[in-house]
Parts: sequence; C-alpha cells; structure tokens
Amino acid sequence: MQALALLVAVLSVLLPQGLAAETATTCAGIVPMRRRREVISISDFGGVGDGKTLNTWAFHKAIYRIQHVRRRGGTLLYIPAGIWLTGSFNLTSHMTLYLARGAVIKATQDVWNWPLVDPLPSYGRGREFPGSRYASFIQANGIRDVIITGENGTIDGQGEIWWNLWKQKRLLHTRPHLLELMNSRDILVSNVVFLNSPFWNIHPVYCSNVVIKLVTVLAPYDSPNTDGVDPDSSSNVCIEDSFISTGDDLVAVKSGWDEYGISYGRPSYGITIRRLTGTTPFSGFAIGSETSGGVENVLVDNINLYNVGTGIHIKTNIGRGGYIRNITINDITMNTVGKAIQIASDVGEHPDENFNPNAIPMVDGITIKNVWGMEVEQPGSIEGIKNSPFTNICLFNVKLWGVGASLWKCTDVSGGALGVNPWPCPQLTSSYATSSC
Ligand SMILES: *[C@@H]1O[C@H](CO)[C@@H](O)[C@H](O)[C@H]1NC(C)=O
Ligand SMILES: *[C@@H]1O[C@H](CO)[C@@H](O)[C@H](O)[C@H]1NC(C)=O
Ligand SMILES: *[C@@H]1O[C@H](CO)[C@@H](O)[C@H](O)[C@H]1NC(C)=O
Repeated sequence: MQALALLVAVLSVLLPQGLAAETATTCAGIVPMRRRREVISISDFGGVGDGKTLNTWAFHKAIYRIQHVRRRGGTLLYIPAGIWLTGSFNLTSHMTLYLARGAVIKATQDVWNWPLVDPLPSYGRGREFPGSRYASFIQANGIRDVIITGENGTIDGQGEIWWNLWKQKRLLHTRPHLLELMNSRDILVSNVVFLNSPFWNIHPVYCSNVVIKLVTVLAPYDSPNTDGVDPDSSSNVCIEDSFISTGDDLVAVKSGWDEYGISYGRPSYGITIRRLTGTTPFSGFAIGSETSGGVENVLVDNINLYNVGTGIHIKTNIGRGGYIRNITINDITMNTVGKAIQIASDVGEHPDENFNPNAIPMVDGITIKNVWGMEVEQPGSIEGIKNSPFTNICLFNVKLWGVGASLWKCTDVSGGALGVNPWPCPQLTSSYATSSC
C-alpha cells in the first residue's frame, strides 16, 4: 500500500511535465472535447435504424429541437447502433453528433431530389459545373461549438451512384461533399469513419479552430474526386492521427479559385497536419491547386504514404494569383510512389474565360526535410514561372530509392539542397542551403 502511495506521489510529480510535452504535439488545446449536459436520441424523434426507413424528418426534427430549445452546455444527439438512412441535414451550434459503435448514418441515393445550395463565393460556381451545387450530406453553416464523435460509427455517403452518374456525364450540378463546415468555428471531429463520399469527404471552408483527429476516411482507389480532407480558406486547422485511403488527394489545402478566390481574398493559414497514413493514386499531401486567397504557415509532420501517385504536391497555376509561403514538411516516408515531390505552376483548369492571365501566384519558402522514399519512380520536379520563379525552396535529407536513371527536373526555381539523393538539380545549391534555408 505504502509503495503504491509512493508510486502515485512520484508519478504525480513526473506526469505534468510528461503531459505538457505530450500536449505540445497534439491538437488537443484548440477545441476541447465537451461533455454535454443533455442527451437525446434519434429514436426519440421517430428514427428507425433498420436501413430501410427514411430518417430525414427525424434528423431535421432533432436538430430543430437542439437549435430552438437551447440547453446550457449544449445537447448530444445519440445515434444508436443500426443503419440510419437519411437525406442531407444541417448541424447546429452547441451540439455533439455521437455515433455509437455500430451506428451508420447512411445517405439516400435519391440523387434527383437532392437539395441544392449556392456556390461558394471564392469559387464563383460549383467546382464541377456552373451555378448551384448539391448540398453536402451533412452541412454546417455559420455555427460554432460542434462535435462529431463517438465509437467509430460510420457516415456513409453511398457515393457509387454519384461516381457513376458523373462518369456517364449525366449530372448537372457539382456532387455533394460528405461533410461541409462553412463559416463555422470551434469544430471537433474525432473517432468517426467517413465512407464513400460522393465528392470531397471533409471540407472546412471559411472556418477557424477546426480539429480533425482519429478519423478513418475510405473510398475506392478509382472513385473520382474523393479527396480526404480539404481545409479551404480556413485558419487554425489541425488534422492528426488518421488513416485516409481514397481516390484523390488525401489532404489538400486550398483557398479559392482564380478571379473569385482573389476577390474573396480569404487565405488558409495556421494549418497543422501530422501522423497520417494513407494511399491514393493522386497526392498524399497537397496544397492547391485552388490557392487564390493565399496559403501560409503550414506544418506537415510525420506522414506515412504507400502506393501514391505523388507524395508531396504543391500545385498552382497562372490566373490563380495568391501565394503559397512558409510551408514546412518534415518526416515523410513513402513506399511505391510515382513521383516523390512536385511543385508545379501549371495544374488545374480555370472556372471560366474571365480569369486574369496576369494573376501570377507567388511561391516562397517551402522546406521539405527528412523524406525517405522506397520504390520511387521519379524523384520529382520543381517548375516555377518564367519571370516569377519559386524562391527559397529548400530540400534537406531527402533520400529516394529505386529511381534508376530518372533525375530531378527544375525550371525557374531557386533555393538550397543538402543530403538529397539522387543528386538535386543545380538550381538548388548546398551553399544556399547552409546559409539561408
Ligand atoms: C440547411 O442549410 C441551408 C443553407 O446552408 C438551407 O438552405 C437549408 O434550408 C437548411 N435546411 C434545413 C432543413 O434547415
Ligand atoms: C476508433 O478509431 C481510432 C482510430 O483508428 C482508434 O484509435 C480508437 O481506439 C478507436 N476507438 C474505439 C472506441 O474503438
Ligand atoms: C511559419 O509557419 C509556422 C507554422 O508552421 C509558424 O509557427 C511561424 O510563425 C511562421 N513564420 C512566420 C514568419 O510567419
């Protein structure tokens, strides 16, 4: 007993320091997990989790109730085990959407009655088609203090019907996201599985203080445009400890599209992404290509990729304008990769003919270090813009194996390189790396 008491005393002296070190490397401080004072269940609103009954009305009623009968400390909406088929619904402030173990919130496949919403001002139109776009399956607009969590229940978009209609060119509006958070703050998403999104999976846009952790995002390798998480014109976003396997970029930081993004002028900044594992035929970590509001102060740390098209892809285009600066990417492993690193200035289409060909993006201050790649086909390319080169591009300790005779390709770029294998392009010099990186 005495020994135990002593152990507890010793631990209580030692732990605070240990915990402090721990919190420094997690998103925990940004949006705390809250205990809600009130708990209601979707079953209380006539919901039936049999996989057949349509529960759209039950979700709308439950959320209307949370919105209009405000309880101090907020309300938890409990989704028990079962398959809860529903159309799209909106979240409200001060709520927790809690998916119990075995709970599946499943989207209907009622494509032709799916609601529409306005295009985002920073895109000027839907991403795929002009005009309005399909509402996201779960939407938040202009709210705060929202938690989506539980015991790893599933939000299933049943995207296949959307992917097929899109491939058959039968859609007239941009496909829905699985979860879109718009103009919102203090959002925590954790311990949830996102499955088969019709389009991008998780899209925080015009948001601040967003934490996404311990999530699993799954969509088939050949599903079109099923990006994992796309922080867009948002600040203070932290994504960590997650597994993402989709048909498009695992994480892509964005900030609006050409002339619309430039005039809306809303940057993405203060973005942290760490301890992710994933696979995709497209990019592991990406910035862009829509970066017209600017992207800065991004920290990417400890990413583990396998079977990826491009490991790290920073992409923009003439007409985008904006900037990409102060980006640090550290501790990346990749196994079986088409191209390890690509920084490009010619990626992505324009929203319409009114883009400004003189809106030249600025790319400055990108550090990529401690990269270990196996079975890499091509080391990479860094191709800036004539008369507007990419500057301060620094590569440190980048070791890529399996590239054969394939070389780095660089144009219109300056910066430094140290400890890079295969030999870096001559525009990146070791003297610059030592003095200025
Ligand atoms: C959900 O929010 C959208 C706007 O974001 C609105 O048009 C729609 O009416 C809302 N739906 C419900 C059921 O409240
Ligand atoms: C849920 O999934 C996460 C991430 O895979 C895992 O760390 C966690 O232990 C799981 N939680 C439960 C309750 O199963
Ligand atoms: C660069 O970004 C990091 C986050 O990755 C941030 O801590 C730092 O303050 C930024 N530097 C400048 C000069 O803004």
